[in-house]
Order: sequence, then structure tokens, then C-alpha cells
Amino acid sequence: MSAVLHPPATPAETLTIALGERSYPIRIGSGLLGRADSFDGVPRSAAAVVVSNTTVAPLYARRVLDLLRGRHRQVELIELPDGEAHKDWHTLNLVFDALLGLGADRKTVLYALGGGVVGDLTGFAAASYMRGVPFVQLPTTLLAQVDSSVGGKTGINHPLGKNMIGAFHQPVAVIADLDTLATLPDRELRAGLAEVIKYGPIADAGFFAWTEANLDALLARDPQALRHAVRRSCEIKAEVVAQDEREAGLRAILNFGHTFGHAIEAGLGYGEWLHGEGVGCGMVLAAALSARLGLLDAASAGRIARLVGRAGLPVLPPRLGAGRWLELMRLDKKAEAGEIRFVLLEAIGRAVLRGAPDETVRALLDAHGA
Ligand code: NAD
Ligand code: GLY
Repeated sequence: MSAVLHPPATPAETLTIALGERSYPIRIGSGLLGRADSFDGVPRSAAAVVVSNTTVAPLYARRVLDLLRGRHRQVELIELPDGEAHKDWHTLNLVFDALLGLGADRKTVLYALGGGVVGDLTGFAAASYMRGVPFVQLPTTLLAQVDSSVGGKTGINHPLGKNMIGAFHQPVAVIADLDTLATLPDRELRAGLAEVIKYGPIADAGFFAWTEANLDALLARDPQALRHAVRRSCEIKAEVVAQDEREAGLRAILNFGHTFGHAIEAGLGYGEWLHGEGVGCGMVLAAALSARLGLLDAASAGRIARLVGRAGLPVLPPRLGAGRWLELMRLDKKAEAGEIRFVLLEAIGRAVLRGAPDETVRALLDAHGA
């Protein structure tokens, strides 16, 4: 089946992520994968390789390949297996095998066409192939459009820990075609909403209130609501990344809910819960921990839990046992000298990074049946 991409109803919007010579545009709009000018500024190398997967390629690859043939002499497609369970060393090596087999050189541009798994993996391939080649993010899930395609974190999972192997490597452009969201399964849309919900608590109380008021429109895929959610999310992320590209401090706030969420993903096995589901439930736990530590009022923690629940995301964690939770969370990249550090809230719109006594975390997990 090939998805229909309509001409744009409203003009595309372009944000810039300000990183000096590594600055790049984030283009957001309808019909962008069908327009040559979406790719303005991307190097016109002789060769290009589109990396996608067996679900997304049949929907969107032909259109992208046709368009790119106007920019590059040779354009090839690599189709990877689909799923978080394939975000691993073996699949990464399939990309290297293909690039070497195709004779890709240092100027070859990689295009990541898909969700966060394809984006993270292709970005890491681009960071390491011949010590670095340019790449473009063509995100096709809500989660990838509001988060993973922006900011240059790339990588793969390790059986012991989520996103443990990777590199910072910024794309040369992000092109988010909102039309692609039409084919996204409902469960994936809800997973993407988890990352949209995240931005309000960490940075913008007004956006949180907007998300509460517009959640039903977002679930119904109202185009204006989705466009606003993608734009505001990217604005917040771009601002944070511009201030702290390599997560010396501030950028960690983008990990709100992720310490618990990553533990769920690794603890249950990748792909059992979607990343966004882990983040949704993780935000409920992180807000409750903030309240338990006296940082956040209970009413605000309740608002977050209600919104996550309304989005159809799990609010109850899986039962792993407190010991296992702590073991998994000690592997989190934010941990220092064995101390788990959580992104916690002082208010909706204000996040802090800090540790919490093990006994408080255990009591929280027990209280949530985890
Ligand atoms: P995903 O990439 O697995 O995509 C979800 C599913 O939707 C897949 O089956 C995919 O094939 C399918 N799909 C994609 N686009 C579609 C479309 N338009 N129509 C129909 N089906 C489509 O998952 P995701 O939620 O996009 O990304 C999750 C990943 O992103 C995780 O690995 C997570 O660690 C990573 N992530 C990275 C960052 C970052 O900053 N780099 C941030 C957040 C999340
Ligand atoms: N998604 C977390 C980050 O980009 O830093």
C-alpha cells in the first residue's frame, strides 16, 4: 500500500536549532516529503542512502526516493527489520554492510525515514561510518517528530541498558511531514503523546494546560492540534539543546520520566512496552516521587497522572520488585558513582535533577505495586 500525501494546506514552518556551524533547520508541515524545497540546504552529494524499515518503506520510500533522485545521482534504499528489539548491534552492522557494499563514501548523505528506532540507529551509523557522514532526519512517528529526530542523540540499545551505545551527531536537517501521522497506529500515536506531555512539566506550564485542553483533539488527530504540538515541542527541545548540546546539565530535564521508563523497557525486554508507554508511566512515578520528597504539590502530581491516563498510556508500573528496579535504574546514564539521579519537579514547568534516598524510592515503588 502506498500512502497518499496531500499538497500542503498551510505553509511549512521552519525552526532553527542554533548550534553554531552545526545549526540546522527543523521543517514542520503537511506534504513536505513530496516537495523538493523541503530538502534545501542538504548537501547535493553524488550518492544518498535512505534507511527505513519494512513497515515505513512500503508507505513512504518510493516518494522520497523519486524526489531525491533529483538531488543525487545514485539513491539507494536500505530496509531494516522493524521494532525496538532490532535497535541493536546486529541491525547497525546490516547498515554498515550495505553502505560498504554500495561503495558509500564520506560525502554520501544518509536519510533516516521512520520513527525513533530508525532515526537513532541511522544517526549512529552516520556518526561512525568513515568517522562521520551527513544525515537527514525524516521522522514519521509523532514521537520522532516531537523528540527523537531533534538534538543529535543517536545510538542503539544494549541488553543490559537502554541507549547505552551511541554518539552525539547532529543531522543536517529535520523534515517532519505531518501527513505521515495519518498512517500511524493508535498505540504509537499515544506513545508519541507521552513525549508531548513531557514538555509542559519540565519547561512550560502554559503548554501543559494547552495539552490538557487539547488532548481529545490530539487523540482525534486534529491537524492543527498536531501541528501546534509538534512545533511547540520542537521549540522547547531546540532551546534546551542549544544551551546544553551534550547534556552537561540542563538537557537532562528532557529525560523526565525516562529513568523509570528505561528500566521498564530493559526490565521487560525491548518492545514489550513502547518507549512512550514507559515514559508515560515513568512521568507518573517521577511526579509522585517529587511529591513524596516534598518538592511538588500533590494536586500537580495528580494532574500529570490524569493526563497520562487520559492519553491511554499506562499509569501502573509492571511488577519487577524494588530491588530489580533499583538495579536497572543504577545503569541509567544520569547515575553518578552508583547514585541514581531523577528528573523531578518543583512545579509544573520547573524541573530539577537530583538523587533520592533508596528507601523513599522503594516505598514509592511498593505503593504503586511495582
Ligand atoms: P519506532 O521507531 O519503533 O516506531 C513505532 C512503530 O511505528 C514502528 O513499528 C514503525 O515501523 C511504525 N511507523 C513509523 N512511522 C509510521 C507511519 N507513519 N505509519 C505507520 N507506521 C509507522 O518508535 P518511536 O516511538 O518512533 O521511537 C522510539 C525510539 O526513539 C526509542 O528507541 C527511543 O529510545 C528513541 N528516542 C530517542 C530520542 C533521542 O533524542 N534520540 C528521544 C526519544 C526517543
Ligand atoms: N530525549 C532526550 C534528549 O534528547 O536529550
